[in-house]
Amino acid sequence: MKPNMIEARKRTTIKTEYLEYDNKINKLFNGEKYFLRTYGCQMNVHDSEQIRAYLENLGLEETDTLEKAKVIVLNTCAIRENAHDKVFGYLGRCKHLKEEDPSIIVAIGGCMSQEEGVVSEIEQKYPYVDIVFGTHNIHDLPNMIMNAKGNQDIDVYSIEGKVYENTLYKRDSKITAWVNIMYGCDKFCTYCIVPYTRGRQRSRKSKYIIEEVDALVKEGYKEVTLLGQNVNAYGKDLEGEISFAKLLESVAKTGIARVRFVTSHPWDFTDEMIDTIAKYDNIMPYIHLPLQSGSDRILKLMGRRYTKEEYLNLFNKIKNKVRNATITTDIIVGFPGETEEDLNDTLEVVNTCKFDGAFTFIFSPREGTPAAKMEDNTPIEVKEQRLYKLNELVNKYSKESNLKYLNKEVKVLVTGVSEKDEDKIVGYTEEMKLVNIEGDKDNIGKIIPVIITDAKSFSLDGKVKEEIKC
Ligand code: SAH
Ligand code: SF4
Ligand code: F3S
Repeated sequence: MKPNMIEARKRTTIKTEYLEYDNKINKLFNGEKYFLRTYGCQMNVHDSEQIRAYLENLGLEETDTLEKAKVIVLNTCAIRENAHDKVFGYLGRCKHLKEEDPSIIVAIGGCMSQEEGVVSEIEQKYPYVDIVFGTHNIHDLPNMIMNAKGNQDIDVYSIEGKVYENTLYKRDSKITAWVNIMYGCDKFCTYCIVPYTRGRQRSRKSKYIIEEVDALVKEGYKEVTLLGQNVNAYGKDLEGEISFAKLLESVAKTGIARVRFVTSHPWDFTDEMIDTIAKYDNIMPYIHLPLQSGSDRILKLMGRRYTKEEYLNLFNKIKNKVRNATITTDIIVGFPGETEEDLNDTLEVVNTCKFDGAFTFIFSPREGTPAAKMEDNTPIEVKEQRLYKLNELVNKYSKESNLKYLNKEVKVLVTGVSEKDEDKIVGYTEEMKLVNIEGDKDNIGKIIPVIITDAKSFSLDGKVKEEIKC
C-alpha cells in the first residue's frame, strides 16, 4: 500500500492496537553477509538495532564492506533534502553490485520510504531495489526478504496504529541503551515531515517500558535514553496512562545508574517534569530543548505553540531548579519569510541562553508540509550567511560552556576507546559533555572521576582522577 500524507494528516484520532510480535527464527541464510546503513536521528539508529536482530534471525552476519553483502539494507531519513540525495547516491553503488550478482537483495526502509512520491520514484527509476518497507512495518522485513523473488516488493503502510511488544534488538552498546517510549509525533510543526513519515503519536504502555529497563539493569547496562520525537507528551494518547514525569520517576527507581531522554518540546514541558529531574540524582541534568526560532512571528508560522518569552521563562525555570543543567537546542534559519529582524531575534535568544550546544539548519522545504507552500523569496546565499552568523555565535558559547569545566572534576561514564586516539578512552559527563581521557581501558563501562585538562569547542580532554599525582 502506498502512503497518502493528506489522508494521514486529516485523521484526528487513531486507535492504537497493542500486539505481541512473534520473533521467528528462520535460518534461511547460512552465515551470508548483510550490510546495513543508517541515516538520520536516534530513532533510526534504534530501529536499525531492531533490523539487525531480525536479519541475524535469518542467519545473516553483519559486514561493513558493501561489496561482501548478500542483503543490503538502507535505513533512510527524510528530514531535509540532502538526506535524500545521500541515499539515491548510495543506490548507484548498489546498482553495480546487482549487475554483477542479481541474487543480491537491496532493501530500502526508514522515513524516506514513507514519503509521498518516493515510492513511485523508486518504482520508476530504481527497478533493481527489491524491497521497500516503511517505519511502521519493520517487523515485515524478514518475510519480505524470505519471499524476495527478483521483482519489487513494496509494503509501506500509510495507516499506522500498531505498537508491537516483544520486539528484539541487537544493541550497539552493552553500556548505554535506547528505549522507545513512544512512536510518531502529533505536533505537526509546519516545516516537519516526521508526523507523516512516522505517523501520529503512539505511546508504549509504561508497564512494558519499565520491564525493558529492569531487564537492561539486570544485563548490566549503566544508562538508558528514553526515546521519542516529543517525549514529554508521553501518554497523552493513551487513556489512563501516567505522565512523562511519572514515567521518568519510575525509570529512575529501577536503579539504573543514568537516565536520559530525547527530545523535549517546550510546549509539553511541565513543572512536574522539572521537579522530577531535580529530585533524582540518576536523572541526568541534560536537556535538549529545540528553540527553532527566536522570532514570535516565525514561531507562529512554524506552529511551535510558544513565544520567545515562554521559551525563555521555561529555560530559566530549568536552569534555576536543576543543578548544573546543560541545555542544547535546534535552530532553523531561512524559514519562509524570515527577515534580518527575525534572525536578530534568534541571535538575541542565543546571546541570552548561551546554549551548551546547538544543531543549526537551513530550512529545507519538504513536499506535503504546509511550510513548503509558503512564499519564500530569500536567496540561498543569504540563508547561508545567516547560518554562518548563527554558527559563529553558537560555537562561541559552546566553547565558553566547555571552558567552565577546566580543572574541575566530573563524573564520566566511559563508553569505549577513542576513535581518534586508540590510547585514549571516551565517555560522557552527566551534563552530556564528551570527554577524551588518558586512562586505563579497564574503566570502560564504569562511572569514574575525571579531571578536565583541556576544553575544545565540541569536547573536553581529561585524566582519570587517581592518576593525577600531586
Ligand atoms: N522531535 C524533534 C525534532 C526532530 S527533527 C523536536 O521537535 O525537537 C530534528 C531537527 O531537524 C528539528 O528540531 C529541526 O530543527 C530540524 N528540522 C526539521 N525539519 C526541518 C526542515 N524541513 N528544514 C530544516 N530543518 C528541519
Ligand atoms: Fe517535527 Fe515538530 Fe514533531 Fe519535532 S515536534 S518531530 S519538529 S513535528
Ligand atoms: Fe530523519 Fe525520520 Fe529521524 S525523517 S530525523 S530518521 S524521524
